[in-house]
Amino acid sequence: MCFKRLCALTLVLSKLLSPTGRPVGKPAASVSRQFNDSDIYANWPTYDQLPLDPSFPTKAAWGVWGATDELGALNHITPNTIKAARNEIGAGIAISLNLEMNIPNPPLNPLRPAMLHAIVPFQGYQDDIISLNTQISTQYDGLRHFPYSTNNRVSTYQFYNDLITFEDIVSPDRIKTLGIQNAAQKGIAGRGVLLDWGGWKESRNETFDALSEVNITSSDLDAVISWQGGSPESFIHPGDFLIIRSGFMKQYLQLPVPQEQVLPFRVGDDAAWVGLEPSDDTLRWLWDRKISVLGSDNPSVEKSPLIAVIGGVERSLHQIFIGGWGLSLVEYLDLESLAETCHKLNRFTFFFTLQNLNMAGGIASPPNAMAIL
Ligand SMILES: *[C@@H]1O[C@H](CO)[C@@H](O)[C@H](O)[C@H]1NC(C)=O
Ligand SMILES: *[C@@H]1O[C@H](CO)[C@@H](O)[C@H](O)[C@H]1NC(C)=O
Ligand SMILES: *[C@@H]1O[C@H](CO)[C@@H](O)[C@H](O)[C@H]1NC(C)=O
Repeated sequence: MCFKRLCALTLVLSKLLSPTGRPVGKPAASVSRQFNDSDIYANWPTYDQLPLDPSFPTKAAWGVWGATDELGALNHITPNTIKAARNEIGAGIAISLNLEMNIPNPPLNPLRPAMLHAIVPFQGYQDDIISLNTQISTQYDGLRHFPYSTNNRVSTYQFYNDLITFEDIVSPDRIKTLGIQNAAQKGIAGRGVLLDWGGWKESRNETFDALSEVNITSSDLDAVISWQGGSPESFIHPGDFLIIRSGFMKQYLQLPVPQEQVLPFRVGDDAAWVGLEPSDDTLRWLWDRKISVLGSDNPSVEKSPLIAVIGGVERSLHQIFIGGWGLSLVEYLDLESLAETCHKLNRFTFFFTLQNLNMAGGIASPPNAMAIL
């Protein structure tokens, strides 16, 4: 029982507040960096200065591109970075970086169904219908894919810039905030950089099992740049699309079919693979380089199992990259032909384009990624 007025107030409040108690559609990340369009790096925070507000999660870059920003690291792409990348085209070779859409098959995560592809024959023409979980093959992870969370609990989800809640994503209202249409409409093009970590390991005769927990460290990446003939300080430019070849896909593609079939049944710590080391060193190295997108030929860019302690808190790089920095990841890239060509030309930078699906409210997408050398 309640008084009439109080009831009305409760009703109004329950309409304005989401089930997590935060006002709907009102950004919480009100602290933001002062910058202007003619100098996008004015007042750029160092890694140690993150987050801008102590109430933000571990090493979040909320507010760095403004409190209502939905593009995150894609803001590093500017007309100048795109124009400068023209000079990367020399040999006139275009290389697709996408696996065939049904590879890996079966998907590595057994919760994700394989792609369905139906041919629809009509009289005089053919159509086809594709139904796929966007996480199973080469994919661009958008900013709705991974929030910060504690113990994977929905009630603690925090998405980039705190712009949406889990309820917003699953609501029938078709709220588009942080959907991958933003990336599709921004236009992703510019300079790509390959760091062939797997090739570097091979050159040193250092064998490793890509299907076990192996860390790719920031000092490894510096060593790979030197091995490729570059300078660790200047090889990567702001706005670059950084690609790390781990050797995962090379090993996966050589697996006998019975092993491909049983791979999804590895559980817990056994579901391991090579990838970036989850550490402050890795994060600082990447933050300083101002990359726009980060890709790899493995399933998660970072090593698996995903959890590590960063800044005293249990975190994955996924949480900090996607939920914190608005940095999209491209996974399961096919880098075999690219790496071979880069070594042949002795050139590891190229023009790069990526056009994900223009899917309003989408979470991830095939990337349609291409390197042009
Ligand atoms: C914007 O940045 C430019 C270049 O650093 C500077 O000259 C200008 O004064 C800045 N404008 C404002 C309004 O801060
Ligand atoms: C790697 O092994 C090959 C073949 O045994 C050998 O020729 C080469 O010198 C080795 N390279 C290094 C860096 O040890
Ligand atoms: C990988 O790096 C993390 C973080 O530094 C560390 O906790 C883990 O033990 C390392 N794993 C291996 C196999 O070295």
